[in-house]
Amino acid sequence: MRLLVTGGAGYIGSVVALHLLRAGHEVTVLDDLSTGHADAVPDGAEFVEGGLDAAGAVVGRTTFDGVLHFAAKSVVGESVEHPERYWHNNVGGTMALLDALRTAGVPRLVFSSTAATYGQPEEVPITETAATRPTNPYGASKLTVDLMLASEAAAHGLGAMSLRYFNVAGAVDRYGERHATETHLIPIALQVAAGRRDSLAVYGEDYPTPDGTCVRDYIHVDDLARAHLAALDAAAPGEHRVYNLGNGAGFSVRQVVEAVREVTGQPVPTSSAPRRAGDPATLVASSAKIREDFDWVPVHPAIEDMVSDAWRFTQEYL
Ligand code: UFG
Repeated sequence: MRLLVTGGAGYIGSVVALHLLRAGHEVTVLDDLSTGHADAVPDGAEFVEGGLDAAGAVVGRTTFDGVLHFAAKSVVGESVEHPERYWHNNVGGTMALLDALRTAGVPRLVFSSTAATYGQPEEVPITETAATRPTNPYGASKLTVDLMLASEAAAHGLGAMSLRYFNVAGAVDRYGERHATETHLIPIALQVAAGRRDSLAVYGEDYPTPDGTCVRDYIHVDDLARAHLAALDAAAPGEHRVYNLGNGAGFSVRQVVEAVREVTGQPVPTSSAPRRAGDPATLVASSAKIREDFDWVPVHPAIEDMVSDAWRFTQEYL
């Protein structure tokens, strides 16, 4: 297929673009490089530097069979302080993209949604039918796009898939997590192991979890990417489907730090810090639906594998 990958110079977008190329697809990456890196665009992909407002020009000059849409702002804390950035970029940007796709007749889209659409879960593991009550503008903006896709599919026949990611980790080859301001647990713990930070602040140790620290569902970016290819193949005209994308298993902050110590062989000093605003105690996906519909299983479910791939990337490329 001829495919457009928005945000394909970012962490997840670049890994998915790589998988698409390896599967024999033709790939164009559209990315404004606001958080992505030009050298993360995989070899073999055409690169267009621009924002989602440039989507019309891009899809107007080539016939695309589908779009994988990653371009977005994705930092929860920033979304609380500057919600307008999230409404403009994530919602306004996607609206511009959808207008362009409709005009050009592009038939299918796979969207990078998030577990943050659910907010504080009432039940764990979280299924796709759980209530969606986002606790921050980031999650709200992604949920809004999910709703936009449902109506776009119903009214105009788009085949759309929303994949709600839990905590993405790991790296593939030279494609990994490279953020100017890092907020995520594993990259920060690895920076401590590499001696680039003194210690890791553990945000809250009094949660109702086995060791008191937050539990999250970590999924290897390679497994995540494979699910995108399956979703793309399954997208059917006029249909919008939602899938959770996680391992279905949870690891606490303490367990992750322990895995980082084991894998790197380095000390990772920690300090106790207050809870971070908006952090739910436990977020674990039910991955039953995606396993059943796409015959998808994570091939790297062990936290040690994710940490070890991210560590190799940290040492070689950061
Ligand atoms: N944490 C620390 N210290 C740190 C960084 C993180 O203790 O220095 C803790 C957090 O409090 C949290 C856990 O480690 O309990 C994981 O935090 P991350 O920031 O790595 O990931 P989140 O679970 O907060 O966020 C992820 C995605 C978001 C998405 C969210 C869904 O990165 O995009 O899941 O709730 F919105």
